[in-house]
Amino acid sequence: MADPPLLTTRSDELAPNLACLVPAGSHAYSKAADQWPAVGPRILAHGRGSKVWDVDGNGYVDWFPGLSSVSLGHAYPAVAQAVISRLERGHNFQLPTMAELEAASEFLETIALAEMVKFAKDGSTVNGGALRLARFATGRLRVAKCREHPFFSYDDWFIGTTRRCGGVVPAVAALTLEFGYNDADSLAALFSAYPDEIAAVILEPVRFDEPDPVFFPEVRRLCNENGTLLILDEIVTGMKYHLNGAQRLYGIKPDLTTWGKGIANGFPLAALTGPRHLMRLGDTTQQDSVFLLSTTFGSELVSLAAMQATIGVFAADDVIGSNYARGAALREGLNTALSAAALEPFIEFVGRDCFFGVVTRDEEGAESRVFRTLLFQELIRRGVLFRGIFYPTLSHSDEDVERTVIAFADALSTYAAALESGPASFLVGKAIQPGL
Ligand SMILES: Cc1ncc(COP(=O)(O)O)c(C=O)c1O
Repeated sequence: MADPPLLTTRSDELAPNLACLVPAGSHAYSKAADQWPAVGPRILAHGRGSKVWDVDGNGYVDWFPGLSSVSLGHAYPAVAQAVISRLERGHNFQLPTMAELEAASEFLETIALAEMVKFAKDGSTVNGGALRLARFATGRLRVAKCREHPFFSYDDWFIGTTRRCGGVVPAVAALTLEFGYNDADSLAALFSAYPDEIAAVILEPVRFDEPDPVFFPEVRRLCNENGTLLILDEIVTGMKYHLNGAQRLYGIKPDLTTWGKGIANGFPLAALTGPRHLMRLGDTTQQDSVFLLSTTFGSELVSLAAMQATIGVFAADDVIGSNYARGAALREGLNTALSAAALEPFIEFVGRDCFFGVVTRDEEGAESRVFRTLLFQELIRRGVLFRGIFYPTLSHSDEDVERTVIAFADALSTYAAALESGPASFLVGKAIQPGL
């Protein structure tokens, strides 16, 4: 691990070249330069287990591997082996394959919640498919999405509701309504304002705030009463909170569920699952069907092999239990460092141990993006690639935890000094920008 300051010469040289060829220099808005502190790597080279290395050779403990899609660890051997073995036998054919049958049955058996599945390549696509299915099933057009959940899709129905609405069809975005998390009254108000018009309600089970025990039962009741489908977006939460999804943990009963990050250890695979009576509406061999998620690459077998290997490890090794334990140890160490520095009023960890975030506050106690950036900067300088969420995986070791706690304790001295005399002389460059 490099001590501060990092040498990131090559990274800084290459980043403008990438930005010259790829808009924002990134294929996801959340990986772009404005989402990171100015100090730190711009371009990574490779990863193994819990570590990544940048093009200058600096190594980092990676706490958000592949935006939390790499759920076992980088280059995880069992997954790599399964992928290589599949590659040697061909991986895309003009007819369905035996491997698709096995993959579908293993996935459904693992999540143990649904009767049918349709695979695709990304979360946006399966969310779009779920909404289309709901619109077809109900004969309605409006959808209601949770206001606090920051990202569902690059499609018009969602992105048209954000400030990044350029180029979308306004009429599509206008059909999207919003309600509040843990605020069933706001959903009830939508049903009153638009009776018999709402096809689907879509939300994540949890971000960092726990669901109020009455919230999901009430959402379910409202959906039942109004003939609306409940779509649970488990693209982030799936395979993190519980093997069967966070819905099992919280007793949520959705009609349709979407999965993505984490089910194939970073390989491009997403899934829509649901009961047979709904999913069959996407059967294009029938006259009256919805055109549901028909893609050339949906059943590409490398990602399915990666998924089977990934869920095999998850199911056999109580990976989620061990992630919770690793997260708890990390959190305890971080909180001990915080209290030793007497900085508890300014930094707080939120969420469950399997996936927890940080809230950073300024000297007035107000949430602060500048202080958030400063904390990231100081951790990155000390070899911890951190962007606000700790996602412990099977590859994270006791040593990673120890290193991170030491880096954090050390970073706190800069945080404390910035609280004392203002962050301007400590933060290099600009604060990270809001993503959407
Ligand atoms: C909750 C949630 N839903 C959907 C998506 C979209 O997934 P993808 O980036 O695979 O299209 C994301 C992506 O970050 C997400 O966080």
